[in-house]
Amino acid sequence: MMQDWFRNAKLGIFIHYGIYAVGDVSESWSFHNGNISYEDYMKQCEGFTASKFDAKKWAELFQKAGAQYVVMTAKHHDGVALFDTGYSDLSVVKKTPAARDLVKEYTAAMREAGLKVGLYYSLIDWSDPRYRTVYPEGMKKEDCLNDIYGSPAGKEEEPEKWQEFLEFNNHQLKELMSNYGTVDLLWFDGDWERSAAQWKMPEFREYLHTLNPNVVLNSRMQGYGDYETPEQGIPLYGPKGEWEFCTTINDSWGYRPSDNDYKSSGQIVRMFCDCITLGGRMLLDIGPKEDGTLDERQEKVLLDLGGWIHDHEEAVFGTEKGLDYNHFLGGSTISADKKTMYLFVYDKPQETLCVKGIKTPVKRVTVLHTGEELRFSYTGSLPWSGIPGTLWIWAGEMSIHPFATVVKVELEDEITYNLGHGEVVTFNE
Ligand code: GLC
Repeated sequence: MMQDWFRNAKLGIFIHYGIYAVGDVSESWSFHNGNISYEDYMKQCEGFTASKFDAKKWAELFQKAGAQYVVMTAKHHDGVALFDTGYSDLSVVKKTPAARDLVKEYTAAMREAGLKVGLYYSLIDWSDPRYRTVYPEGMKKEDCLNDIYGSPAGKEEEPEKWQEFLEFNNHQLKELMSNYGTVDLLWFDGDWERSAAQWKMPEFREYLHTLNPNVVLNSRMQGYGDYETPEQGIPLYGPKGEWEFCTTINDSWGYRPSDNDYKSSGQIVRMFCDCITLGGRMLLDIGPKEDGTLDERQEKVLLDLGGWIHDHEEAVFGTEKGLDYNHFLGGSTISADKKTMYLFVYDKPQETLCVKGIKTPVKRVTVLHTGEELRFSYTGSLPWSGIPGTLWIWAGEMSIHPFATVVKVELEDEITYNLGHGEVVTFNE
């Protein structure tokens, strides 16, 4: 069920932590796609120590990054649980030298730090033979001669086994939602291999609510979730309803030592700004090393983003989606009382910033991170026809923030627009 804490949240940290951090392979997909054999993939268990895993340190870092919530992989498509499960031996507790319940330490530390606790849970389990017992809906034996769909690959379907598998998922989710205090958010993944009917999604959603009526559910439930999850490519327009954009810092969800294709702090800040100015939020992924420490480049991006958020809090929190680009060629947010616009400026202005079609008179314009006041003027206003003209903010000499500069525009009253042909509208109509 959608909750206010999620509506108000702007940044979450996504954590892909698992045995895939041992070698240099992608999480689960590497064996599924045949880049490594299943046996070699699973051998990574022997090298997974979590020897320096310190959930409290993570929580401190996430606070400094400016996050409100966190989502960690309790189990990825490989089926290896990061928690002590009574329903399978395949866990880091039983199969790796770590021999610890990492979900337990994680949930406790995040909650103590005041962060909302999210768990990623893969519906797919490519290790469990009961998973590969039905074909994707509408497909037949002949359509699935290999197992790319996690199907029985040319064999007969076994619906009772599939039912057992669904019950197995339900049992593990009950463990996750009963043994670790309140889980605020469940982040499912992998719904695409089966239909809503095969997953029994309506019943599944209901079942999860019996475990916690307030849990927020992401969209990867074949239409039965609470919010959309665009991934990697920022949407050009915000999807309808609540949404969260998830992205990696380099090109990998989990840790891969060979992946040096890191985004800069400036790019990540810009992506964050794109999300909040379009009315969404960002779920920024880190992939910890097998010992639980972070690559310093990932840590730096988190700290830089946190520093920027700290300097621009009032433009970020308690605000909503801003103006359309035809009013202002940049991102923007609007305060809850609708009396302040925050303009996000990504490049150094030559001379002016220009805002069109805002009817409410401007009181004051300042640069948010320095407080310096900027001069403004109007052209083209025709008071007798209600046409407000163009607001020019003289910004050629303003101090620039190295990542993104926010210009705060205080209005005399609640914002109203004029679309240029006399029609006046209020905000977000
Ligand atoms: C994709 C990937 C998966 C990853 C997820 C995170 O679905 O397949 O490995 O966990 O994205 O959003």
